[in-house]
Amino acid sequence: MTDIIYNFSAGPAVLPLPVLGKAREEMLSLHGIGMSVMEISHRSKHFETILESAKKGIRDLLQIPWNYQILFLQGGATLQFSMIPMNFLARNESADYVITGAWGEKALKEAERCGKINTIYSAADSGFNSVPAQDELRFTPDARYIHYVSNETIHGVEFKYDLDGGGIPVVCDASSNILSKPIEIEKYALIYAGAQKNIGPSGVTLVIIRDDLLEAVPKNQHSMLDYRKLAEQGSMLNTPNTWGIYLIGLVCDWLKAQGGLAAMKGRNEAKAALIYNAIESSDGFYRGHAQAGSRSIMNVTFRLPSEDLEVQFCSEAAAQEMDGLKGHRSVGGIRASIYNAFQMDGVEKLVEFMADFAGRNG
Ligand SMILES: Cc1ncc(COP(=O)(O)O)c(C=O)c1O
Repeated sequence: MTDIIYNFSAGPAVLPLPVLGKAREEMLSLHGIGMSVMEISHRSKHFETILESAKKGIRDLLQIPWNYQILFLQGGATLQFSMIPMNFLARNESADYVITGAWGEKALKEAERCGKINTIYSAADSGFNSVPAQDELRFTPDARYIHYVSNETIHGVEFKYDLDGGGIPVVCDASSNILSKPIEIEKYALIYAGAQKNIGPSGVTLVIIRDDLLEAVPKNQHSMLDYRKLAEQGSMLNTPNTWGIYLIGLVCDWLKAQGGLAAMKGRNEAKAALIYNAIESSDGFYRGHAQAGSRSIMNVTFRLPSEDLEVQFCSEAAAQEMDGLKGHRSVGGIRASIYNAFQMDGVEKLVEFMADFAGRNG
């Protein structure tokens, strides 16, 4: 294939080529059953196998204990911003939110509709360029839960540890770094992630929820917003995104074949280090946004001396088959998203281009 470019997009993002190849192979007739995945009933034995295989893939990779349910929902990570407080926060209760970027702010705004929100940490004043150390955080003793975003996709800042709630349930939006490295699942009560970065295509939201939380869901909750009902029905309260779940299973198989999450972590760190080194060795031509200890290994964000040069950088990169480097419209600059499926050769090509561009324009 010659027309494939390097896709640095933040999401929907690059998928592993072997996964796309397998999906193409099986597109018209899955495992010889004479129908496409998109055509079979979600209640059929065939789909049951697909769903179980996707769940098993996620469970194996993240080593999720049996007291956690794995759900494949719809409505994106954005619906989770609302579902979490609608299920776990009553009017007279409070929850703690740690704000390290734009997605945390959005989650907070939705939660405020339900109860009292304590912003126990915000990096807004420094333009969201860092995350707090665990010992900088003071939780509200009667908070119902603590919410944080483990990787802020727009600002490019990432927690290097799994936050410890000291007994208060921890809820985490891991949309843009889930499956990029091993995590300590037991530290979390609920983890959620839109699939379209490291898990599969858009249209599926992964929710990993501890059993005891399901007991806290209000009795009169709307069915499609009720984690307990969704779990009881095995993510099939209505027709799920069958195609998306099928692809998630394939991505999990691919990740296992790559050596699992410890191997991915090593590769992801090596890829990110190349770009951060290119920034640091540019004599100030490139300025990284995140402080050293908070740098994301998934979304590398940086600026150039002027906005004009940033536009020129993106258009010259696109001409060399590197697409999706423009920073989010709210912050500008450059963002290189280098998820699991993004290969090292694309990163090498980018750093070569960065050195050349700086040499010509510095
Ligand atoms: C960290 C984070 N949270 C939430 C979202 C919103 O996800 P969705 O579009 O699936 O609702 C995104 C999207 O990029 C994200 O990066």
